[in-house]
Amino acid sequence: MATILITGANRGIGFAMARQAVARGDHVIATARAPESAGALAALAEETGRITVRALDVTDEDSVAALAEATPEEVDLLVLNAGVLNSYGGVADAAHDAEAWRDVLMTNVAGPFLVTRALLPQVERSEGKKIAIVSSIMGSNEGAKGNAYPYRASKAAAVNVARNLAIELKPRGIAVGAYHPGWVRTDMGGGGADIDVEESAGGLLARFDALSMATTGVFEDYKGAGLPF
Ligand SMILES: NC(=O)c1ccc[n+]([C@@H]2O[C@H](COP(=O)([O-])OP(=O)(O)OC[C@H]3O[C@@H](n4cnc5c(N)ncnc54)[C@H](OP(=O)(O)O)[C@@H]3O)[C@@H](O)[C@H]2O)c1
Repeated sequence: MATILITGANRGIGFAMARQAVARGDHVIATARAPESAGALAALAEETGRITVRALDVTDEDSVAALAEATPEEVDLLVLNAGVLNSYGGVADAAHDAEAWRDVLMTNVAGPFLVTRALLPQVERSEGKKIAIVSSIMGSNEGAKGNAYPYRASKAAAVNVARNLAIELKPRGIAVGAYHPGWVRTDMGGGGADIDVEESAGGLLARFDALSMATTGVFEDYKGAGLPF
């Protein structure tokens, strides 16, 4: 049984990963910005007895520090899943304003970094010693399409953070990967996306299982296909 901490676990892919992880016998520390209104997560925690719900806003250093303080467990796998997408528009899209840039970069880039830094002791003293950053194929420079600027830039930077962490943490035996979950039917992905959350979550958990010191620094999708940077 592993202990897995998942950020943004109250809905979407994060919630599905939490549900599948407990179903296979893992213990999940599931974070939500507003645990008091995370009804489905609370119900799953009650039903399974294997989910601990904790508050976390990944952009707020006090919240990150409070989570680290409230987490005495060893964390075998840290999943940095919380993310935001402001708009799919091009360069003239009014939604790509300074506030949106701040929000998207803070959530999708600084968030995984700050949470990793705060939880490193819990990861380092675990058996598993793994960190997974949920990025996106939209962060691939080779796949650039000329739109969704803050989101694409943030997901490229999230891969960069994962690669640098993989290098720095290798001597400490901690493996780090960056992942594309597929185009998934969630609030973010929309109803017309390719796959449901169960397929994405199952694939991602299998990829996290496969992550090792031999593959640290990987950028791949939920099926294990390597992605261009
Ligand atoms: N869906 C796709 O097709 C797709 C494709 C590629 C990559 N991804 C990536 O996969 C991850 C999960 O996406 P999803 O589709 O499940 O999205 P989602 O349904 O919109 O859920 C996003 C989750 O992130 C949380 N979150 C947002 N800002 C946060 C913050 N500042 N602090 C803590 N939690 C925060 C949300 O919490 P609240 O409920 O409080 O807002 C929610 O739990 C994201 O990183 C996304 O970029 C998704």
